[in-house]
Amino acid sequence: MAAHEGMNQQTKKKETNKKKTHWCFSPILLKSCDQHVLSLIAFSVYLFITLKLFVYINIMTMSQQVLLRDAMRRLNMTRDVFAERIGVRRRTLDSWLLPDESKEYRSTPEVVRRFVQEISSKTDAGLVYTHGVYPSDEGAGYQGKQLKHLLSVDQLTRGDVEELFMLSDVMQPIARRQKVTRVLEGAVLANLFFEASTRTRISFGAAFCRLGGSVCDTTGFTFSSMAKGESIYDTSRVVSGYVDAIVVRHPDKGAVSEFAHATNIPVVNGGDGPGEHPSQALLDLYTIQREFSGLGKLIDGAHIALMGDLKYGRTVHSLIKLLSLYRGLKFTLISPAELEMPTEIIDSVCRNGHVVELSNTPINALKDADILYTTRIQKERFTEESIDSYGADFEVNQKLVGAECKSDVVIMHPLPRDSRAGSHDLSVDLNVDPRLAIFRQTDNGIPIRMAIFAKLLGVDQLVRRSMKDVTWVTPSYIGPDDNFPEASIS
Ligand code: CP
Repeated sequence: MAAHEGMNQQTKKKETNKKKTHWCFSPILLKSCDQHVLSLIAFSVYLFITLKLFVYINIMTMSQQVLLRDAMRRLNMTRDVFAERIGVRRRTLDSWLLPDESKEYRSTPEVVRRFVQEISSKTDAGLVYTHGVYPSDEGAGYQGKQLKHLLSVDQLTRGDVEELFMLSDVMQPIARRQKVTRVLEGAVLANLFFEASTRTRISFGAAFCRLGGSVCDTTGFTFSSMAKGESIYDTSRVVSGYVDAIVVRHPDKGAVSEFAHATNIPVVNGGDGPGEHPSQALLDLYTIQREFSGLGKLIDGAHIALMGDLKYGRTVHSLIKLLSLYRGLKFTLISPAELEMPTEIIDSVCRNGHVVELSNTPINALKDADILYTTRIQKERFTEESIDSYGADFEVNQKLVGAECKSDVVIMHPLPRDSRAGSHDLSVDLNVDPRLAIFRQTDNGIPIRMAIFAKLLGVDQLVRRSMKDVTWVTPSYIGPDDNFPEASIS
């Protein structure tokens, strides 16, 4: 009986426990559910605040010049239109775009920075105010991926180019010798130049050094084991064991790609015979964009005149391909008949919807040109051609520019120019003309090549926060003829 009662009591207890358990279970569920929801809300708030903080820190650490230039590029607006959009006078905007060390430089108010960031970020979501800058990006490109080598401008989309330009803007204070960085400390570059060069070799080397790396050089075949019959494959593989990146200039079209096939470290084409010169084209286009920015013009719809040796000039081959990523351009190609641009390049430019006109003389061909880009005759590459047809009327000098060009034309040349008598290359009598952009081009070689290395070696995100002030004294103007208001504005 007692046992029975005991059992009954146990059963009751179990039932009570069951009930208790039952009654307890729901609140636990509710409680755990609440906790789950609460955790989710807390996490979302945390994420929101972190993202806001990240964007805020990003805006605050981005220099105002980079922020404003990037916004104008994204919105594809001229300075006048952009100034109106953000509700300031054009002169105020110009003062914000000047380098920090300029006397006329002014700080952008924080409220304006926030507004610019807001309207600029909306373009990413497809809310474009005028023409977006990324519409022709369906083709191949590296955006979102690691760029392995830079061999041809064919690898780049318009978005890729604009991204490199933004990175180049970030590099400007370093290139202008106001800041230093060590993001490539310990890295080594091999500069392998099997053809003559001043600009490309030295500026690639200087760009690598300004990022904190160091450079090994070899120049010409004579001092390379290629003179003993070593193959490109062996040379490339051997050098790859010594360094972290390679820049190659070679007299044969396609040779730099052969170097790239033999290595997993980044290879940059510093000019392959009459083939391509992608870094030159990037710095040329960057210069055009900066010159146009000062003049209130856009690349879309511009008239570009390319003149000189368009058959063998690799810089013009790369430049016209890059420009054709933009919209509605008119190209006037001026050269003797035997030095015309290769047909396959002209066809590809036309397929992209641009207008191409050919002329065998600059007379009456330059009237509406926004850019006059002239090149040296590459006699060293001639096979059966002669220079007899390249007469004095091809010489770009004060007389030609005064008679044939618009007053705001920008005069460019990749350099070197042949200054010997009878060469009919770009004349030195334009040296003091502010429209001559040749030394602004060469200066822009540093930030562009720094951006290329930073991208190839994956340190592009580290540069901005790593900068420190320089410790040595630097001149305000690098060259004696640089003190033009236009030069400081662009
Ligand atoms: N523009 C250019 O390639 O110059 P260098 O031949 O001096 O490198």
